[in-house]
Amino acid sequence: MSAADFYDDLDAAFAHAWQQLARAVADRRHGFRVIQLATTAADGTPRVRSVVLRAVTAGQLQFHTDSRSAKLTEIAAQPRVALHAYDARDKLQLRLLGSASRHDQDDRRAAAWAATQEMSRVCYRIQPAPGTPIANPHAVTHAMPQADPDPGYRNFTVVSVTVDRLEWLYLAAAGHRRARWQRCAGGDDWSGHWLAP
Ligand SMILES: Cc1cc2nc3c(=O)[nH]c(=O)nc-3n(C[C@H](O)[C@H](O)[C@H](O)COP(=O)(O)O)c2cc1C
Repeated sequence: MSAADFYDDLDAAFAHAWQQLARAVADRRHGFRVIQLATTAADGTPRVRSVVLRAVTAGQLQFHTDSRSAKLTEIAAQPRVALHAYDARDKLQLRLLGSASRHDQDDRRAAAWAATQEMSRVCYRIQPAPGTPIANPHAVTHAMPQADPDPGYRNFTVVSVTVDRLEWLYLAAAGHRRARWQRCAGGDDWSGHWLAP
C-alpha cells in the first residue's frame, strides 16, 4: 500500500498502520522494529525505554523482557501503558495506548524462548538482576547453576499490550495527516476520525 492509498482514506490509513507494525516484526531494519514503551513508576512519574517488537496480532503487540526488570513491577501496579513508534522512511508516527499483561504460564513464553537465539538468551542469565547498582562494569556474571537445564528461561517473559487507542501522524510536504482510532468497548471494532495535524 502506498501513501497515495491512505493519504485521504481513514480506513486505509488504519490498515496501513497495522500492516507496517506487522511488517516490522519480520524486518529488523523497519522503523517500527524498536518501539518505545512508557510506564508509570510507583512515584507517579513516567518511565520510557526501547523494546523490540516481537509479534503483532489483532490489535495486540508483544515484546520480550527480563522478569526481574523494573518495567514489570510498574506494569503490575499500573497496566495502562503507552507505546511510541516512528518510521523515518515512511514519515509515520504511531502513538498507542493499551493494557499490558505478562505471559508467564501460557504457551507464548515457551514458544518465544524456543525461537530466541543463544546470543539473546545469554542476556537473561545476568546476575545480579538488571538495574541493580554494581561497583564496576565487571561485577556481573552470566553463569547459572549447572543443574539448570535451560539457563535464563526462568528470567524470561513475554509481555503483550492490547491496544485500545491508536494515534497516527503522517508527515507530507503536501500537508500532514493526523487521525485517531479508539477500540469500541473492548471488542474488535474501532472508530476513527481525522484530527487537525
Ligand atoms: C535498541 C534497543 C532494544 C531493546 N530491546 C529491549 C527488549 O526487547 N526488551 C527489554 O526488556 N529491553 C530492551 N532494551 C533495553 C531497555 O530499553 C531498557 O534499558 C531495559 O529493558 C531496562 O528497562 P527497565 O529498567 O525500565 O525495565 C532495548 C534497548 C535498546 C537500545
